[in-house]
Amino acid sequence: MRVDRFLSNLPQFNRQHARLLLIEKRVRVDGRIVSDPHHDIREFNRIELDDLVLQVGKPARYLMLHKPPGCVSATQDPEHPTVLDLLSEADKHDLHIAGRLDFNTSGLMLITNDGHWSRYLTQPHTKLPKTYYVETEQLITRDYIAQFEKGVYFAYEDLTTLPAKLELLGSNSARLSIVEGRYHQVKRMFGYFNNKVVHLHRESIGPLKLDSQLAPGEYRALTAQELTLFKP
Ligand code: URA
Repeated sequence: MRVDRFLSNLPQFNRQHARLLLIEKRVRVDGRIVSDPHHDIREFNRIELDDLVLQVGKPARYLMLHKPPGCVSATQDPEHPTVLDLLSEADKHDLHIAGRLDFNTSGLMLITNDGHWSRYLTQPHTKLPKTYYVETEQLITRDYIAQFEKGVYFAYEDLTTLPAKLELLGSNSARLSIVEGRYHQVKRMFGYFNNKVVHLHRESIGPLKLDSQLAPGEYRALTAQELTLFKP
């Protein structure tokens, strides 16, 4: 939200007051004076007017989790454990998942309370490559490389997938990099060749790789350096 809107939403100020407070340099965001009415603020920011705290600000949380197979990418599920059940964090109900994985898919998941950040990561036009290690029932041939590069038609959505990069690793294993996150996308791409995916593991999202020290079910906070890899 823009800082002028934040101020004018408070009962004591209208738009004109809000502008004036900014011009008079009486408003601080995270300790710094802000006078630009367009300045973007979020629930994480501490906002002060003179000595009055208008918003305390929450710490932003960014976690990477090694999702094990057999858990649901949701905050609640009546039948199965969810990825949030794996977290022992007091504020876990403030957290949400940035980009789901299927029940039996393992690998890198990002969890946050920053909706701005998760929207950036998951919205289609960001086109962050997501890289998966894939094992299949049948042989993977070189034909797949050209087909995935060309795109696979998904009748249900009436669209063709964007160019994807396939690296063959073995007769039944490959590494696939896709820039979208369509429903069951990887399985449906291999499904084009009637080839069933039997093992699927997300290795990376954009430049961020799953920490190899994390066992399935373990998680840790992203480091400040890892956070700079993403530029919303
Ligand atoms: N594609 C799939 O089919 N499943 C996933 O979990 C992720 C990508």
